[in-house]
Amino acid sequence: MFNYRALDPEQLEYVAVATLKEIGPGERLSFEVDHRSIVLFNIAGAFYAIDDLCTHDGGPVGEGEVEEHAIECPRHGARFDLESGKALNLPAVVDIAAYPVRVEDDQILIGLPRENNPV
Ligand code: FES
Repeated sequence: MFNYRALDPEQLEYVAVATLKEIGPGERLSFEVDHRSIVLFNIAGAFYAIDDLCTHDGGPVGEGEVEEHAIECPRHGARFDLESGKALNLPAVVDIAAYPVRVEDDQILIGLPRENNPV
């Protein structure tokens, strides 16, 4: 998996996925975009987006408990950093994809890799 936040902006294509009204502080939103299942979090007004598929065994990580900036997969307890996607503890050893998030007017956009970039 990949931390797409680390890519240069020109390597990304920003896609609108929600409006600010749709996801208030403390809320989360799951959606499909570009054949990816992604979950978006609003944590005290800061937005984070990761794949909604645990790298350990495909669990619905987006349904897990959030503590500060980490989420715990409800299936076996692996935790991931919401900003970098880094796997923080076993049983996950592979990071989860993390996407940059941008707000323009009332739209929330996430950065997806352009087709010629690694997935
Ligand atoms: S599927 Fe997420 S910890 Fe196992």
